[in-house]
Amino acid sequence: MERFFIQGGKALRGELKIDTAKNSILPLMAASIMVEGVTTFQNVTRYSDVLVMSKIIESLGAVVSWDGDSLIIDSRELSGSSVLNELAGKLRASVFLLGPVLARQKTAKIAYPGGCEIGLRPIDIHLDGLKALGAKVIDKNGYIYASADKMRGGDYALRFASVGATENIMMAAVLTKGQTRIYNAAKEPEIVDLACYLNKCGAKISGAGSSVITIEGVKKLSRSVKFRPLGDRIIAGTMLLACAACGGEITLKNAKAEHNEALIAKLSQSACQFDIKSDKIKMRSYGRLKSFGSVETATYPGIPTDLQPQIVALQCVSDGCCMIVENLFESRFKHAAELMKMGADITLKNNVCLTRGRDKLYGAEVKASDLRGGAALVIAGLAAEGYTTVEGVEFIDRGYYELEKQICLLGGDMKREKI
Ligand code: EPZ
Repeated sequence: MERFFIQGGKALRGELKIDTAKNSILPLMAASIMVEGVTTFQNVTRYSDVLVMSKIIESLGAVVSWDGDSLIIDSRELSGSSVLNELAGKLRASVFLLGPVLARQKTAKIAYPGGCEIGLRPIDIHLDGLKALGAKVIDKNGYIYASADKMRGGDYALRFASVGATENIMMAAVLTKGQTRIYNAAKEPEIVDLACYLNKCGAKISGAGSSVITIEGVKKLSRSVKFRPLGDRIIAGTMLLACAACGGEITLKNAKAEHNEALIAKLSQSACQFDIKSDKIKMRSYGRLKSFGSVETATYPGIPTDLQPQIVALQCVSDGCCMIVENLFESRFKHAAELMKMGADITLKNNVCLTRGRDKLYGAEVKASDLRGGAALVIAGLAAEGYTTVEGVEFIDRGYYELEKQICLLGGDMKREKI
């Protein structure tokens, strides 16, 4: 077992290159098994979720290898069509295999996905979308069985703009005869990244990033390509929030400001100063910030749910009250109780969190129970007086690679230790 040991109270200063977007590389890896060729993903970070996804696609018969930070996936010989529970249950992204396996193998047996416990996380929209394309789908004993004998392109409107469901249906439609139009599609940058990769492989997708995505089905994808995924906008947002909570001046490279517009607007209103170039963000933050007042998480381009816990941590040391409404997941406030051990003044009711900023937080022994909640505890520890230990590092490693080293690069005092 490991924990982070954080000595708080230091301003953050320095420069950091932002790693690959976890929520881009995971669907990209799933999509690569549709290609009867070799894909080289460049500049890939070895998050633990990426390592698990590699095992899943190897279990399907793809050959996965690394060359430095390039991840090479040879899916010319794909033999399998089943993803079993012991692997699928480790991450949410295993559900992204459903569309690609069905499209390539014409049959699929995928165990229900795992993922952070931040809500029920149903997959009904994924399944309804595939059925709308003619797939036969049976949900039994914790597995999804699907067959593609009668799949044809068609129109489908998502009842909610689900990121994963948009990606799954888009991938399935790429190798489905006819035209498919997805309405009320999610617009996240990671979906644009996925469409760019698939089009580079020979797919015919238009409209990604808007609420209507059109796919013209093709017989097969056989181009071997190189592709560099996006930088991780959630890691970039996390570092900006850490600097806002601690004070200081940081520069983030491989970070597109337009992918964090809503957050940057809130930070600017709270007296942070920005200097923005194409894929570089410089931020200065001095003194105690004003609270955000109110924040509602929303689908892109709104405030991302994946930054909600980190925003709560900042609001606990900002001046004034803040009402944070979580609209995407029904139980994503597990970090609140841990922050209260550090002296935070938080009230919770249903999907609303009310913070009253304190002059300071105090170091404590706290425990992460999900990925982004863990990042929030790290931010609080960096801003607190005294030292903080954060257990549950295995959750944080899913989406932050060697976070302690990245924080030290920015002048923070944080180390990983065995317990
Ligand atoms: C993706 O999850 C991300 N994960 C999540 O990031 C992110 O929080 C989420 O999108 C929202 O942006 C990956 O990309 C691997 P959704 P996903 O489908 O696709 C409901 C992180 O910390 N819903 O957009 O699972 C669902 O219950 C993770 O990096 C249905 O009801 O999210 C939730 O309330 C956490 N039925 C809402 O939609 C469905 O079939 C948003 O879910 C699918 C979703």
